[in-house]
Amino acid sequence: MKTRLSKHLRCPISREPLELVAWETFERPLDAATRSRAASLGIEPAELATEVQSGVLLSKREKVAFPIVDGVPRMITFRAGVVAKFDERFGERLRRELPGYALPEGGALEGEEEVLRTFSSEWTGYDWDGQTYWNLNAQTWFKAMDYVLQLEPNQLDGKLALEVGIGIGGVADHVCRSQGAEVVGMDLGYAVDVAYRHFGANPFLHIVQASAFKPPFAKQTFDFIYSFGVLHHTFSTKTAFDAVGALTKAAGRFFLWVYSPNNETRSLLRRALMQIENVARPVITKLPEKAQALALAPTIPVYMGWQALQVLRGNADVRYGVREAMHAARDRLTPKFAHRHTEDEVVGWFRENGFGALRRGSEREVPSWLPVGFLANTAVDGVRER
Ligand SMILES: C[S@@+](CC[C@H](N)C(=O)[O-])C[C@H]1O[C@@H](n2cnc3c(N)ncnc32)[C@H](O)[C@@H]1O
Repeated sequence: MKTRLSKHLRCPISREPLELVAWETFERPLDAATRSRAASLGIEPAELATEVQSGVLLSKREKVAFPIVDGVPRMITFRAGVVAKFDERFGERLRRELPGYALPEGGALEGEEEVLRTFSSEWTGYDWDGQTYWNLNAQTWFKAMDYVLQLEPNQLDGKLALEVGIGIGGVADHVCRSQGAEVVGMDLGYAVDVAYRHFGANPFLHIVQASAFKPPFAKQTFDFIYSFGVLHHTFSTKTAFDAVGALTKAAGRFFLWVYSPNNETRSLLRRALMQIENVARPVITKLPEKAQALALAPTIPVYMGWQALQVLRGNADVRYGVREAMHAARDRLTPKFAHRHTEDEVVGWFRENGFGALRRGSEREVPSWLPVGFLANTAVDGVRER
C-alpha cells in the first residue's frame, strides 16, 4: 500500500483514524507526469512513492492491529486465513514491539467466510491474460462500464472514488487512469492480491481488503462510489447498501448494479438456466475446492460453445478458453448468495438513504454495441442530498 492510503483508512470497528507502523517498505520511482498530477491533487509525492509491504495499522481505541500483508492492508475484523498467516510470520514481533495490541479476532458475518473461499478461488485460480474481461475483450468491457457508470473522460478529475468489490481490479485501474481520480478499490476476497499484482503500480490506485458491511472509511468520504455485481452476493444486499451508501459525501454520487429478477425471465433459455442454478448453487457452494472444480467441469464446454457462437455471430471479439469458462462457471455456481432485486426496490433504498436525482438503467437507451445484460439488470445511481 502507498502510505497515502493510511490517510483515507479508518478502523472498521470504531471509525477512528489509524496509526501506520511500516515494517517492510520499498520506493517506487515516480515520473514527472505523476508528480505533477500529485501536485494538482494536493498529494505529497513521497506518499505515493513509498509502498508498505508489511506492517500494521493500529486502532488505539480498539487495541487492534490490522495487518498489512504483501502490500495490501487487511481491514478484516475476523481471523481470516491471511490474518493467521501474518500471525505466524510477525506475531512475535507484534507482541514484542506493540504490547497490548492484538490481531482482529471478531466473528465473521454470515457468508463472509464463504466469500473468502469461493470468490477467492474464482479470482486467484484465474490466470488472467489481461485481454479478456468476463465475456468481452477488456477494452469493450471498460467502454461498457463507462457507459453504465455514465462517466465522461476526466469527469472525476481531482476527486476521490471507491469501487466496492473490485475483483481483478481492471475497472478500478481504468476509472483511475481515464478519470484523473484517486481511486480506492476494496474487496473482501483474495482477489485483492491479484489486483495488487496487476495494478498496484498505479500510483493513484489503492487496494484494500475489507467487507462492505464494515468498510474502513469515515462516513461521507467519497465523491463517487460504484459497485457492480457485488452486494447481491452478501447475506443482505440492503444492509450492505446502507453501509456503503453512508460513505458518499454530500453531493457525491453512488452507483449500484445488482442482479435483477427480470434478467432471468428474458428468454426460455434463461428461465431454464435459472432453475438449474437454483438447484445446483446451494449444493456446489458447500463442496470442498477440488470437488467444486469437478462439479463445474461439465459446464466448461457449454460456456465455451456459447461464446464461440457469439463470436461467429459477430457479437463478441474475445479469446475465450477453459480458464475463462471456469471463471464464469465459478461466478455463477459457487457464491453462497445471489439475490435478485427489482429497480423499484433499489430506488427505494436510495430514497431512504437520502439520495436524489435518481437515474434508472431501464430508462436509458441501450446502444447496439452494449451487451444486453449491462442494463437488463438493476442499475441505479443517485446524488446524496442529506
Ligand atoms: C462477481 S465479482 C464482481 C467483481 C467486479 N466488480 C467485476 O465486475 O469484475 C463479486 C466480488 O464481490 C466480492 N465481495 C463479495 N462479498 C463482499 C463483501 N461483503 N465485501 C466486499 N466485497 C465482497 C467478491 O470477493 C468478488 O470479488
